[in-house]
Amino acid sequence: MIMISRDTIDTIISSTRIEEVIGDFVTLRRRGANVIGLCPFHNEKTPSFTVSPTKGIYKCFGCGKAGNAVNFLMEHEHFTYPEALRYLANKYQIEIEEEAQTPEMQQELSERESLYNLNQFARDFYEKTLHETEEGKAIGLSYLKERGVRDDIIRKFQLGYNPSTWDAFTKYALDNGYKLDYLVKSGLTLQKDNRAYDRFHSRIIFPIHTASGRVVGFGGRILTTEKNRPKYVNSPDSDVYNKSKSLYGIFFARNAIASKDTCFLVEGYTDVISLNQAGIENVVASSGTSLTQDQIRMIRRYTKNITILYDGDPAGIKASFRGIDMIVEEGMNVKIVLFPEGEDPDSYSRDHHPAEVQEFIANAADNFILFKTHLLLKETEGDPIKKAVLIKEIVNTIGLIPDGITRTLYIKECAVLMNVPEQVLMNEVRKILRNKIKKTFPELKKPEGIGWTEDQTAPFQETYDIASDEYQEREIIRILLLYGDDVLPLTRKNDDDEEEAYTVKVAEFAVLDILHDELTFENPVYAAVFAEYVKAHQEKRIPDRNEFISHNDPDIAHTAVDLVFTPYELSINWKKNNIHVNVEENRMKELVFTAILSFKSKKLDKIITAKLKEMQESSDPKDQELLLNELKNLKDSSIVVNRELGRIITR
Ligand code: UTP
Ligand code: MN
Repeated sequence: MIMISRDTIDTIISSTRIEEVIGDFVTLRRRGANVIGLCPFHNEKTPSFTVSPTKGIYKCFGCGKAGNAVNFLMEHEHFTYPEALRYLANKYQIEIEEEAQTPEMQQELSERESLYNLNQFARDFYEKTLHETEEGKAIGLSYLKERGVRDDIIRKFQLGYNPSTWDAFTKYALDNGYKLDYLVKSGLTLQKDNRAYDRFHSRIIFPIHTASGRVVGFGGRILTTEKNRPKYVNSPDSDVYNKSKSLYGIFFARNAIASKDTCFLVEGYTDVISLNQAGIENVVASSGTSLTQDQIRMIRRYTKNITILYDGDPAGIKASFRGIDMIVEEGMNVKIVLFPEGEDPDSYSRDHHPAEVQEFIANAADNFILFKTHLLLKETEGDPIKKAVLIKEIVNTIGLIPDGITRTLYIKECAVLMNVPEQVLMNEVRKILRNKIKKTFPELKKPEGIGWTEDQTAPFQETYDIASDEYQEREIIRILLLYGDDVLPLTRKNDDDEEEAYTVKVAEFAVLDILHDELTFENPVYAAVFAEYVKAHQEKRIPDRNEFISHNDPDIAHTAVDLVFTPYELSINWKKNNIHVNVEENRMKELVFTAILSFKSKKLDKIITAKLKEMQESSDPKDQELLLNELKNLKDSSIVVNRELGRIITR
């Protein structure tokens, strides 16, 4: 690890003026000691986003987002911590001093730095050649123009041209003091029989950037139709470039990906460029192969939604299903767009008006799981064996979805599509999850009392004692673990008695609500987990579910694993009343409210039963009167809670 030195960080932080940093993105005006503006993190009409120059912090009183200048850049620009520091260093002209712990690291650091420099130098050379030399203009630029690439797009993507002389770039770089050793390491220069020549000679150059905008490699496309030269060549992996960890276009796309909350994935350079020209900027290319986990995670920093754009070749698509499963497994929502036979995003964008391209993509986007079901279903008509295989195939994919609510929704939809009972799919999914648990936690024993059945064909059975509050307690803990960090959209009356919307984190809401009613958990494990949530709440943070999954107390760890993997997510109440999940945005609210109200209702029942017993056993009329009063209040509360619950589950 090479780090920015502590001294540099201190200099950066002390030079940073938060109002200047935020002022580059948000229009601010002074109010008293502070400056205020419209919050960039949520929609608002009156400013509640407040920046304190003296304290060096910002806080939005509408959505609660808060932090210092570095946090702001990480949140707003999706920078990593070092990226944010580099940005500030650049803004305030601070030289970054990097720290390496050993001489080898120092060496590595300066080598990497040299490669970055060299790539930037090469990028500038290629760009200059394209725009300013006779050959560049006559061959390179005219080719791009012929292809219909606009000037602003050529500039934006920093496209270039490498002259046709064998060693034009290599020679120029050597003349400028770059060492041959580095030219070869970067892959820009090839060496053979003591001759050094350009890898990309007579090619159009596509620079490849990191997410923070550093040039680390290149793609080069040939212009002639020479048979023995490949159409494209790419930089080899080096100390700064790793093909499987980079995405073409990510630097230019990342803000659009975040603001559109979707990332389009295409095959290559030309698709990225043509879509940009059609006004679609949230697009990256994987360079022909299916996404790697590193690439998926890079995208997930900006959005959970990914739409894959395919040229119309069903065989190719089927071959890519396994790769897409991996994206599903990362918790991303995957959509598929299939272009008409013989078209790719590049050709389609060149033949159609930008508005048509955008409309086509919006209309053609189909959810991956449903798309896969449809496609495979076509092949199974009238063939029960094939259908069984199909079910397995679909269930395999659904089983990868980490989120239980989403899983349940797909089970429902796919059951309808395939015309099989939901129960069958559910059992299959449970089988998969069960195996997954076994694989991940081999030491885990069969959880007691929560309806796991080894016999996979047996229908799902709840095995709770109706009088017990085990289920209700468990449901609260399950929601805290799975959705604690999700937001709950709520409304409240403001001072003018108008309804206004606000949001609160699920964990925060549940903890406060349960504490307020002074309700407790009977199951000691649930009680311990809840206590940790209460403690975290006091520290104004929300625990990560992994804290519990890897908890020191094995009972807590097992329970957490078990809850997080539970396949069927809807509560007994929903099932009993045959309620299905309807409006997407209401789902979380319904889930949380139902759980809390059921919990309260059950707890009240138990308290009432206990008090009744106490009253029957008491012989003191004074005590009895007191108890009777308490009972009346409890009954009233119980009626309110149950009415509220009834309103939700019968809606
Ligand atoms: P194409 O063959 O369509 O490339 O491949 P193109 O440049 O658009 O050529 P024409 O004009 O249609 O014939 C599409 C993408 O696949 C990648 C490139 O990123 C290209 O943009 N590709 C293609 C390669 O990486 N290597 C290849 O040899 C071919
Ligand atoms: Mn093409």
